[in-house]
Amino acid sequence: MARTALVTGGTRGIGASISKELKAAGYQVAATFAGNEEAAAAFTAETGIHTYKWNVASYDESKAGIEKVEAELGPIDTVVANAGITRDAPFHKMTPEQWNEVIGTNLTGVFNTIHPIWPGMRERKFGRVIVISSINGQKGQFAQANYAATKAGDLGIVKSLAQEGARYGITANAICPGYIATEMVMAVPEKVRDSIIAQIPTGRLGEPEEIARCVRFLADEDAAFLNGSTISANGGQFFV
Ligand code: CAA
Repeated sequence: MARTALVTGGTRGIGASISKELKAAGYQVAATFAGNEEAAAAFTAETGIHTYKWNVASYDESKAGIEKVEAELGPIDTVVANAGITRDAPFHKMTPEQWNEVIGTNLTGVFNTIHPIWPGMRERKFGRVIVISSINGQKGQFAQANYAATKAGDLGIVKSLAQEGARYGITANAICPGYIATEMVMAVPEKVRDSIIAQIPTGRLGEPEEIARCVRFLADEDAAFLNGSTISANGGQFFV
């Protein structure tokens, strides 16, 4: 039977590529979105991938949404916690709202996404947990104290779950994308973006598909011995 994968933020940007890659690999895919109904409808029309609307920052919405996905598609054995937002500002200008929004989506949202799925993975003795962190969780970034804090925190979640899940056949791994050609990066002022590209030895932004292929690799049953690891896919911009 086809495995079922949940991809949060799975209708746009890196998440859309991940959803498509997993579908091409034979998974049943549920892709979530927070608000952009139009983009989600267009995505389903184009790909045939099921979409579900909920806010990952809400535990109750996440739990109810996951129950619906499991009732319709079957138990989720692969979860890709990808949904993320930015609210960039230099620290002296960062508001508590900007801090809390990013923490709610990028950090608490990862808890909310994995926690309701975890008991089923333990029972079935199989699971693949993949968290999309960021290069900026590894190195920090000007104007991203909030975002960098969440992405570093995500690595802590992964390393802890790797230890807890191992005896149940569950792996937990992270991917730290560098700067990828998505709306999020295109929203960075052009001058700043150009200066960032100048720091990437590969000399270009990454493509969302390059991250999706990392997810496919980690999700495979054959990747059972990769646990607690971080794949840095950043064109050589930063080495850990
Ligand atoms: N390093 C050093 N200085 C920087 C800088 C950087 N990366 N970015 C901006 N600055 C400087 C500016 O040159 C400017 O300096 P001056 O005052 O001397 O001209 C100053 O900081 C900006 O100060 P402002 O008070 O004008 O800043 P602002 O309130 O207008 O905010 C900003 C502007 C939000 C910082 C904007 O520059 C920005 O968006 N920067 C990009 C931040 C970034 O890289 N975000 C990553 C988004 S992509 C992502 O997050 C995906 C991923 O995982 C990789």
